[in-house]
Order: sequence, then structure tokens, then C-alpha cells
Amino acid sequence: MERTFGIIKPDAVASGKAGAILEMVERAGFRIRGMKMTRLSRAQAEAFYAVHRERPFYASLVNFMTEGPVVVMVLEREDAIRAWRETMGATNPANAAEGTIRKRFAESIERNAVHGSDAPETAAVEIPFFFSTAELLESSAAA
Ligand code: RTP
Ligand code: MG
Repeated sequence: MERTFGIIKPDAVASGKAGAILEMVERAGFRIRGMKMTRLSRAQAEAFYAVHRERPFYASLVNFMTEGPVVVMVLEREDAIRAWRETMGATNPANAAEGTIRKRFAESIERNAVHGSDAPETAAVEIPFFFSTAELLESSAAA
């Protein structure tokens, strides 16, 4: 079993798509091991996307990610990191495959509904960025 980190971004929460996205999460075989609604501070958004700070879209991305509430979640499945990226679809919805979250719900390359960790090292940083150990459920075959 592997864990990854996901965000339902402000565009999708504001347009009432969080429920439909969570349904797609569950249908794709993920167990939700942690979840909460929060609103990112500017400092949090800047730090979370620090890897992109030299990119031309960084300031706009930080504005977008702080404009309203988000749902942050820890998702568990076999091969979770790859599987969640596949369930999300390509960054640019114009390139996203049919049946993916971004194909259905993304408005643009920036306002693209969801985030997902892109590697095990990224998930290992992103999960504790938002969740303490006490906030996460244990994995168990029965759950
Ligand atoms: P994410 O990190 O949010 O899961 O998205 P990603 O891996 O598919 O894409 P990434 O390259 O990491 O970009 C992070 C987020 O920045 C916004 N973006 N805007 N205007 C643009 O050209 C542009 N490119 C990226 C998107 O919100 C993207 O998800
Ligand atoms: Mg990324």
C-alpha cells in the first residue's frame, strides 16, 4: 500500500464539485486516510509550491490557491501516487484523457481542480505539511 497527497483546489470547491470529485476518488479505489477543509495562507501556498517560484505562473498560482477553501486529503491505494495522477489527468485539461477529473472539471491549465504528489519524495513532504500523525487513520485490511 502507498499513500499520496491530494488537494481539491479552490475552483472546484467554489463551484460545488468537491462531492463529485470525492466520488471519483472512491471509485478509483482509494481509501481516504485523512481529510479536512482549510484555506491556505499566502505563506503556506508560497511554501507548498516553492519548487515553482522561478516560473512565470508562480504569483498567479499563489493567488489562485489562496482565493478560497480547499479540501486536503491523504489517499491510500496500491501504486497510489501514479494512480492518483492518472485519475486527475494532465495538468492542462486540453490534454487530459476522457474520464479524468481534470477533463471533467478543470477550467484551465491553472484552475485545474486538483493537485497530486508527483513522486514518493514529494508525498513524504506534502502529507506532513498538512497532517499530523494523530490526524491520519491507520491502514488496515478491514477498513
Ligand atoms: P499539481 O502540482 O497542482 O498537482 O499540478 P501538476 O503537477 O499537474 O502541474 P505543475 O507543473 O506541478 O504545476 C503546478 C500548478 O501550477 C499551475 N500551472 N499554471 N499557467 C500555467 O502555465 C501553469 N502551469 C501550471 C496549475 O495549477 C498546476 O497544477
Ligand atoms: Mg506538480
